[in-house]
Amino acid sequence: MSTSPLLDIGVLQRLKIRCISETGWFDTATVFDDIKMAGGAEIDQYTIPWPPFGALHPDNAAGFSALLEAEATDGTMRRVLFDTGWNPAWMDRRFAEEGIDQLLQQGQIEALVISHEHFDHFWGIGSTLKHCPGLTIYVPEGFHPAGFDLIRQQGHTGKVVTTPGDQPLVLFPGLALVNFPMHTLLKVDGENVLYAHLKDRGMAMVTGCGHGGVLNLLNYARQTFIGGEHIHAIYGGLHISPLEDWDEARDLVVNALRDYGIEKVACNHCTGRTAVEKMLEVGIPVMRGTARNGSQTPLFVGNGDVLALG
Ligand SMILES: [Fe+2]
Ligand SMILES: [Fe+2]
Repeated sequence: MSTSPLLDIGVLQRLKIRCISETGWFDTATVFDDIKMAGGAEIDQYTIPWPPFGALHPDNAAGFSALLEAEATDGTMRRVLFDTGWNPAWMDRRFAEEGIDQLLQQGQIEALVISHEHFDHFWGIGSTLKHCPGLTIYVPEGFHPAGFDLIRQQGHTGKVVTTPGDQPLVLFPGLALVNFPMHTLLKVDGENVLYAHLKDRGMAMVTGCGHGGVLNLLNYARQTFIGGEHIHAIYGGLHISPLEDWDEARDLVVNALRDYGIEKVACNHCTGRTAVEKMLEVGIPVMRGTARNGSQTPLFVGNGDVLALG
């Protein structure tokens, strides 16, 4: 038997994930046309004049953001904001509709975790910081100077913590943050993923886009954490068919995902509708959303929907 030490991150009694906005944007063709016009997938995203830097297709810009409410075994509640969306106007609206503005003002959210630097997860940071400029922010190693500039320009007065690759950081008992080194579209490097250990249930994994590959991220939990041998739930973007194309390799991913025996799979929009339909076909327990507040299909756990675990 292997004696490699697994990491004990502690446990949570419950975890509630509120989807503030899963709609990174409303129309995929428009976003990818904008990228093409600006020079293609390998350009620096900061050269594209989207909000908040420019006025290219503002009505198509939305964002990704979720609130994690973690309940400790003694009943203590701790809150972390996971990503801060894209279009400040859209994020202001969603934060007001979900009461995130009040929670930030009251100091009831202790940190903002940025999954990765992509525009739809990060560029709306002004909407968070205007309610709580001193908030601690976690960014993955690989963040660009332009990203740090944006944080400063939005009036941040708190701490910015850069998470190094492959070194789990326990934010508080039961919740760990891991940066997966990766390089993806629009010169973005590194992605922070959250892992929660739920008492008597197993682990929950929360991703922004899952650019590192969902199977790699799940395997990491198995190899790293006590409790990681059973994944109870996943929430977030999985980037399996964001452009709705399909091939055999993707079938293999979905089949492997089924074999994990995860009890609750809650996907956001960049997972791709095609991928979620395939998951349903092979019998993966996909949580359905209510398709409200700008969310376009019940295939995704949508804007204003809550995934309650534990
Ligand atoms: Fe994504
Ligand atoms: Fe992304």
